[in-house]
Amino acid sequence: MATMNKTTNGTNGHTDDHTNGTKVSSTDEPYWLGRASEEQKRLLKQHGVWTKSIGYLLHPSISPKLPSNARIADVATGTGIWLKDLAQVSPPEYTFHGFDISSEQFLPADSLPQNVSLGFIDFKKPIPQELQGTFDLVNIRLIIISMGPESVWRDTLRNLITLLKPGGVITWTDGNFLIARGFRGSNPESTAGHALTTGQVQLNTTLVKRFGYSFPDMGQLFRDAGLLEVQEDEFE
Ligand SMILES: C[S@@+](CC[C@H](N)C(=O)[O-])C[C@H]1O[C@@H](n2cnc3c(N)ncnc32)[C@H](O)[C@@H]1O
Repeated sequence: MATMNKTTNGTNGHTDDHTNGTKVSSTDEPYWLGRASEEQKRLLKQHGVWTKSIGYLLHPSISPKLPSNARIADVATGTGIWLKDLAQVSPPEYTFHGFDISSEQFLPADSLPQNVSLGFIDFKKPIPQELQGTFDLVNIRLIIISMGPESVWRDTLRNLITLLKPGGVITWTDGNFLIARGFRGSNPESTAGHALTTGQVQLNTTLVKRFGYSFPDMGQLFRDAGLLEVQEDEFE
């Protein structure tokens, strides 16, 4: 079971209520600290691209089901931008809680709406007791790189479900980068695109063969976990 601590991150002004000893300390990792702002920029851009491509922040079937004082969690929140954007188009009575294993990419606290807070959860560990059963909606997005064999996806989903109130909703958005190609159909002999594609194929093969990476049938994963009314949107 995770232990409770209260730490203050001096760089972004967040008070972190949930940590389990795995927080990445900026002083321990000076090299990564130097690149953190680049990663934050990348995540913000990626959020824009994904939201535009998918066409919604939150699946339209979910909003009508939320109570007037909905509590919404975004696990592995990265910057917190998904919550920030959702808060700006949601009733002010909702509260938004972002969690991550690291605060390195968090947007500054004073740039967030007052009903958005950011803190710590490691989705690979049991969820702290005081958070269990407290959310109407749990969102998670783009964590395939932290997954691996199907058992890791299953265990993660099981942990996430413990955050939900009875009747709560979980949304998981991910990309099957294991089959992604930089330039589909590019001439195999001549282009820089081909070099990128070749690199991707090599990386993906290593991830699958050596490290057991997988991308499960998400609908089946959800149904096997006992979730009801499962809907799956697939984009190419
Ligand atoms: C690619 S980023 C996606 C961020 C955000 N979900 C988004 O879509 O913009 C992956 C995030 O997962 C977080 N993460 C990785 N392993 C985690 C874990 N075990 N528990 C919580 N967060 C984790 C990373 O710190 C990082 O912020």
